[in-house]
Amino acid sequence: MSDLKWWETAVIYQIYPRSYQDSNGDGIGDLQGIISRLDYIAGLGVDAIWISPFFKSPQKDFGYDVSDYCDINPEYGTLDDFDQMIAKVHDLGMKLMIDIVPAHCSDQHAWFQESRQSRDNPKADWFHWVDPLPDGSAPTNWLSFFGGRAWTFEPRRQQYYLHNFLPEQPNLNHANPDVRQAFVDIAKFWFDRGVDGFRLDAVHTINADSAPYQNNLANPDFVLGELPQQQQPFFRQLHDSAQLNQPSIQQFSEAYRACADSYEGDRYLMGELHGDDPIKASQTFTDTGRLHATYNFNLLAWDGLSVDGLKQAITSAVAAFNGTGRLSFAFSNHDVPRVGTRQLKNLGLTDAQRPAMQLLLLKLETCLIGSTCVYMGEELALSDVQDIPVDKMQDPWGIEFAPVFLGRDTCRTPMVWRKSEPNGGFSSANQTWLPVSAQHLDSAGLDEADRKGSVYNQFAEFLAWRKQQPAFMSANVISDITGGPRQIIFDRTSDQQTLRCCFDFDTLTATFEEV
Ligand code: GLC
Ligand code: CA
Repeated sequence: MSDLKWWETAVIYQIYPRSYQDSNGDGIGDLQGIISRLDYIAGLGVDAIWISPFFKSPQKDFGYDVSDYCDINPEYGTLDDFDQMIAKVHDLGMKLMIDIVPAHCSDQHAWFQESRQSRDNPKADWFHWVDPLPDGSAPTNWLSFFGGRAWTFEPRRQQYYLHNFLPEQPNLNHANPDVRQAFVDIAKFWFDRGVDGFRLDAVHTINADSAPYQNNLANPDFVLGELPQQQQPFFRQLHDSAQLNQPSIQQFSEAYRACADSYEGDRYLMGELHGDDPIKASQTFTDTGRLHATYNFNLLAWDGLSVDGLKQAITSAVAAFNGTGRLSFAFSNHDVPRVGTRQLKNLGLTDAQRPAMQLLLLKLETCLIGSTCVYMGEELALSDVQDIPVDKMQDPWGIEFAPVFLGRDTCRTPMVWRKSEPNGGFSSANQTWLPVSAQHLDSAGLDEADRKGSVYNQFAEFLAWRKQQPAFMSANVISDITGGPRQIIFDRTSDQQTLRCCFDFDTLTATFEEV
């Protein structure tokens, strides 16, 4: 029924592969594990799957530090497993998106290993190498997202290199045409294997400028947030003034778009990005000939949003993109506490209300314009796991700030499948990479898929109904957001149909009326 491209209305299921399903008993999820759960995912009626990185990686940032973009981390399987996986995803009628990390690689990547040796090797200019200031200090005042300076000194070159995240994630120099070409070749490698699209990691942190770099300006609006990570000095700077979101990044997005367009079948590019003004940055990234869409952060606030906050978040995002499918909403991902806990607290609801609230939020996010990314476990109304012992934590960001700030392990614990099985069916290992949460066992995936009336089954029924509504499937038009203090109301409109969608946070129900 749709006149739109698949990605303009897609419901995209996000898998964090380390935590989905372990097939060989080492306590770590893997590609064969994912293959064994594809029927469960297809049963939901989602359109596509996005898998977080499974490439070769020392796992300092759990795959977002890639040491070989064209091979699979042995813990996760082989390229043969990948081919088997994509064939089955396609057989089940779904698209497959993978996660490419263009801004930085691992310090163990052969490119960086060579580059750091001297100032005149063949890869010497593949990273941002800059001389110290006369007093020996770092070239600019830039700070890293994960704490500390964005510059680390390399004695062999007597120079600093740039890293916007961990020192083990050196920023690639996209001013170098060889680097840009290497990333186009990576895109081709995966498009040739049949991949339908990429989630492009942290594209605002790509740097294609050349030294001398400028200092970031101070952020005159900085207020000390309540959460420890909001108190990092990082937020005292305006990043779009120098460090992030510089115009030269668009050489990357334009080259990627040209590559995607040279393939059949609507290959899709969705950029993850942030900035001092994220909406403006999203518009720039999706200008003609650039990325198809960007991943919208408005609903992902770390400590949740009030109903009024949700309204404002939706309103400001759609103001820029109404009539288009150039954005993707999400309530949860592998970087923030699970929405089942975050929003529950913020909306003043009780734990018994979590399933009803989660179903309501799933319906809300899939009724907005553009695509939606649903994080694994949202279909089970999983809670955030905030009782991981400090000595079992894995996320370097959390380890740095625990116990005041827990980082991202809380949303990354292994999926559970059968309450009756060891480790909830995730793995036969004695120990899993992060502990399986006992609080998840009553909402195990396969148990819930078998249970009539579960969130999984109600969401599946809802998605089947959604697919039949021209208002959702053949136009991306949405009215102003209205409703009382505990309601969100809007109209979705196409040529054939206008649907009034009402989400009530007192009764925790969604109603739809043709008007
Ligand atoms: C993105 C990823 C996050 C990662 C970071 C650095 O924000 O979602 O998990 O740590 O980029 O690659
Ligand atoms: Ca495994």
